Amino acid sequence: MRRRLIAANWKMHLGRVEEALAFVRGIRHLLSRVEDVELVLCPPFTVLSALAEVLRPSPIALGAQNMHWEERGAHTGEISPTMLAGVCRYVILGHSERRATGGASEGDAAVGRKVHAALPHGLVPIVCVGESAEGKEAGETHDFVGGQVQAALAGLTPEQVAACVIAYEPVWAIGSGRSATPAEANRTAGLTVRGTIAETFGEDAARAVRVLYGGSVGPDNIAAFMAMPEIDGALVGGASLGPEFVKLVRRAAAVP
Ligand code: PGA
Repeated sequence: MRRRLIAANWKMHLGRVEEALAFVRGIRHLLSRVEDVELVLCPPFTVLSALAEVLRPSPIALGAQNMHWEERGAHTGEISPTMLAGVCRYVILGHSERRATGGASEGDAAVGRKVHAALPHGLVPIVCVGESAEGKEAGETHDFVGGQVQAALAGLTPEQVAACVIAYEPVWAIGSGRSATPAEANRTAGLTVRGTIAETFGEDAARAVRVLYGGSVGPDNIAAFMAMPEIDGALVGGASLGPEFVKLVRRAAAVP
């Protein structure tokens, strides 16, 4: 059984300690009764430690939004797996907003190195994959997303793959108000993400890995995505920053 998961990607918002604490104090009790769905908040680095303090007695988990693959060294501005271990449990890797501007340090090979670096520290990678609008137009979704999945997971054991989370986030759907259809997302999650994993790591790993959908998910469409058999939850950006997030989580949890 795959545990369903809703991850909030705050991006570059709520990054001052007082505003992040106020927001989390406001939603924590409302969300604490939600069962059957695991919740992960991924705030900016600047507030991770402060939130770890207030969330310690709650079932809400924390994640970082990125990570370097080295444990230490001359990497100005970077955050290492050893710095995150013990503070948060999850880490988003390869988000398209980073891939778009990060060059080689955010390319497929780098994302693979980050995944390899995260797992030994007990960090669960949320690996983002997804095609561009042009890629979709050209009918390249399967090959492109399959290639991203392969590159991110290359060299892992099937058990390590099973411990990862993959977020299928079509680039054209992020922040656009135009989500993929649930059927479209389900197809890519199943045939492409699980299919690619099955080819290399076997059926057990493909069945165990959790696959999220991300891209313009909100309270009004979350239930339709949660109802899809290949989709285990969502990575939520814009709709995770206000009270609508509570509504979204409750609607997700209400899906049998
Ligand atoms: P969105 O962002 O929900 O605002 O579309 C999702 C993401 O980028 O992870």
